[in-house]
Amino acid sequence: MATSSSESKPALRRLFVWDLPVRLFHWTLVLLTILLYVSIDVLDNMDRHAQLGYALLALVLFRIIWGFVGGAYARFRDFLYGPGTVMRYAKTLPEAKPEPIAGHNPLGGWMVLVLLLGLLTQAIMGLFSNDDILFDGPLTDLVSKEVSDTLTALHAQLFNVLLVLVVIHIAAVVYHKVRKKENLVSAMITGYKELPAESHAEPNRGGKSWLAAIILAVCAGLVYWLVA
Ligand code: HEM
Repeated sequence: MATSSSESKPALRRLFVWDLPVRLFHWTLVLLTILLYVSIDVLDNMDRHAQLGYALLALVLFRIIWGFVGGAYARFRDFLYGPGTVMRYAKTLPEAKPEPIAGHNPLGGWMVLVLLLGLLTQAIMGLFSNDDILFDGPLTDLVSKEVSDTLTALHAQLFNVLLVLVVIHIAAVVYHKVRKKENLVSAMITGYKELPAESHAEPNRGGKSWLAAIILAVCAGLVYWLVA
């Protein structure tokens, strides 16, 4: 295997993988998730919680569309692999060396989809919820009180499921850092990933920020129209 001058480290190449919209999406999502939790569980401020939820809904809708028209590595077809590939990948997980995969790995890719769909479901259920006192979600009038109560209960339960998924997500990132010496966090900040020198992956293509801004504005407009 090719080695660097220190002999112990595999030779690496730097590759541009994450377009700016994906990176801004991710860290805004992290911030919104924290604020959503604080607004309800610490401040008990339903109005603020709902506003943050509308922002999250617009953001997640944006990311789903970006999964079809965004940069090469942001697209679902780049990171949603079939079961055979996922199983083969899972067997290589214990190996203590960086992976030659530029985008999300075959397991991480499905986790991304589950997180996005979970967050989407969570935000939509919030639109139909009520707190039995002063707050009714903007679409609560469209369903019966029983349905609204059920969706409110599911909204609270799904939060705990999402929390577990986020913990697994962060644990996986830490595992890659500790075991495989891959710094996925810095890649999600700078856009550049360090790959084994033998990797033939191409740099990211597409993912224009102006297109992302238009899509985000349309998603925000749609959510505003729904909730206003
Ligand atoms: C401080 C906490 C977090 C860290 C350090 C972190 C780190 C990362 C990293 C490194 C990636 C890229 C993984 C890869 O290379 O395949 C990623 C992707 C992702 N993370 Fe996180 N994450 C955090 C919190 C969260 C939270 C709270 C959520 C959701 C509620 C989340 C949802 C996602 C999603 C959806 C992606 C895919 C990004 C995309 O393709 O657009 N993350 N995260």
